Amino acid sequence: DFYVTFARKGVTIAIPKEMSIADAMREHHLTVNTSCEYGVCGTCYATVLSGEILHEDTYLTEEEKSKQDCMMICVSRAKPGTTIVLDL
Ligand code: FES
Repeated sequence: DFYVTFARKGVTIAIPKEMSIADAMREHHLTVNTSCEYGVCGTCYATVLSGEILHEDTYLTEEEKSKQDCMMICVSRAKPGTTIVLDL
């Protein structure tokens, strides 16, 4: 698992390695805005406040990815055992 804290909601959830952040949010009845679910459209863009992101999308440029300050929550993840904090 890895962990995602939703800073605005004050909630942290554990996410199994086979599950996306977006799916985990739905399972916890958190509102999530997605479209493609394949990391290509940019709809699910989330600002990242802290944590190391493993980018899996094709929407962000390599430069944007290297800044580690935003992510596509339909496909991208964090390393097992670590926490990322989202501005959601
Ligand atoms: Fe399209 Fe995540 S829903 S990039």
